[in-house]
Amino acid sequence: MAATGSEKQGATAYYVSTPIYYVNDAPHLGHAYTTVAGDVLTRWHRQRGEKVWYLTGTDEHGQKIMRTAEANDVTPQAWCDKLVEEAWKPLWEHLNIANDDFIRTTEKRHTDRVQEFVQDLYDKGEIYKGGYEGPYCVGCEEYKLPGDLIDGEGEFAGQKLCPVHKKPVELLKEENYFFKLSEYGPKLLEFYAANPGFIQPESARNEVVNFVEQGLQDLSISRSTFDWGVPVPWDDKHVIYVWIDALLNYATAVGYGANQEKFDGTFPADVHLIGKDILRFHSVIWPAMLMAQGLPLPGKVVANGWLMVGGEKMSKSNLTGIKPQDLTSHFGVDAYRWYFLRAIAYGSDGSFSWEDFTARYTSELANDYGNLASRVAAMVGKYFGGALPEATAVGDAERAVQEGLAKAVATADQKIGEELDFQSGILAVFDFVKQVNGYITEQEPWKVAKDTTSEGQARLATILYTAAEALRGVAVLLNAVMPETSQSLWESLGAEESLGALADQKVQDAGAWGILPAGTTVTKGAVLFPRLEEKPA
Ligand code: ME8
Ligand code: MG
Repeated sequence: MAATGSEKQGATAYYVSTPIYYVNDAPHLGHAYTTVAGDVLTRWHRQRGEKVWYLTGTDEHGQKIMRTAEANDVTPQAWCDKLVEEAWKPLWEHLNIANDDFIRTTEKRHTDRVQEFVQDLYDKGEIYKGGYEGPYCVGCEEYKLPGDLIDGEGEFAGQKLCPVHKKPVELLKEENYFFKLSEYGPKLLEFYAANPGFIQPESARNEVVNFVEQGLQDLSISRSTFDWGVPVPWDDKHVIYVWIDALLNYATAVGYGANQEKFDGTFPADVHLIGKDILRFHSVIWPAMLMAQGLPLPGKVVANGWLMVGGEKMSKSNLTGIKPQDLTSHFGVDAYRWYFLRAIAYGSDGSFSWEDFTARYTSELANDYGNLASRVAAMVGKYFGGALPEATAVGDAERAVQEGLAKAVATADQKIGEELDFQSGILAVFDFVKQVNGYITEQEPWKVAKDTTSEGQARLATILYTAAEALRGVAVLLNAVMPETSQSLWESLGAEESLGALADQKVQDAGAWGILPAGTTVTKGAVLFPRLEEKPA
């Protein structure tokens, strides 16, 4: 059986990918959702000290892009160049996405290798020429099975619609090249059975297993009615089907056929992050392509649910008018990165609402977390002139905080780093923040401060050290999710000076106690989560 990502040798990178997005339009909240999730996951692993490779990019061929370019009176290449440079790359930069590479399917490093891969399959007898007729959805760039379609209503009455795009499908009839996908059904089922975690969540896995159990059809992998694609190397009247082209990005971007050392040190992906709309491509077609070529299969394919607005999947064709930038300018980039992962269980659908974001921002970020950070810094300033005092009077209350941190670290590491359960991981950290707030409320340092005996001062010092050290752990734990505010807290604790760069603090060691040295200079930094302005009209 093929090796999976999780069985890779220690020297290889933890390799995570996002889908490569279609550049027919600018990115929206849905694309940012998957990309932020991948960024948090890879930052987490980097902060464990692992070697990591985080890949994103753009899918630039096919009819959908070609028609958009035509409608805008420019060449497809010019259209893609503009969108990539003016919309996609700038958004990822704005959201602090630390991707290691950005692959575009129109790059030569990709197209050359795609041709080689397909030629190889042809030479191996995996591809043959045949005919096909069926309903095609250009939005999905996919032939649909009759059972997939829904009946149109209103303006589309009497027509069959794509269930995802809610638009009429087109009847296509073509002479194409076919990949013998049907032969891979039993091997795929065997692979899913041997690797129960390969497709996540469970609902996605069940859907795919059911689908493959029904029997697979061979897959049309070329198109001859238009030319915006990678030419089929042995027949230049055809271009390679955009999905075959696109899936191969996961191999070509890491050196397939070009840089063997890089390829061996990276491929296959440990995690392909996708939305559930493109599940079959990643968990059926992609593994079958790799099997046909004798390449190792990925560790897992993890599908996120849909961000919904007004009960509909948010998509380029049904935009709600809310851009990621509209939210970041109001809530800030860090809060944006945090909100969707915090509010929606990864894998489930979730609705966005301005009201919910506002409520969570105010109670969890500003009141619980931000206030804790500023109160502690203010008290160290007021009572100890900003020099972090030593904890010499530790008792049960302090030991409970120490245990709370160790527990938050263990839970967050398991949930975020292993299970991609971002919500539970983030909650574990915020439960700890609540615990520390409760500790301060109970200990009442402002009252203890009035006790000028040496015992009183030792208690005060111990309380403030405990709270500051707890925040040191929180800064490390939240760095993957909210890098800017974590850095700001880190500096306010004087940790940059006494402990070095935040990124070098291993997340799995963050639960140790007594790391922040006494004597460190604590300063009141900028407010982490300022009060929100009125909602823009
Ligand atoms: O499918 N909620 O690109 P695409 C959550 N080019 N996630 C969403 C979403 C929503 N409402 N809308 C989009 C393609 N996404 C192909 C991929 S990969 C080899 C080729 C996210 O631009 C989600 O990750 O249509 C989804 O799978 C992806 O964007 C689809 O982006
Ligand atoms: Mg789509």
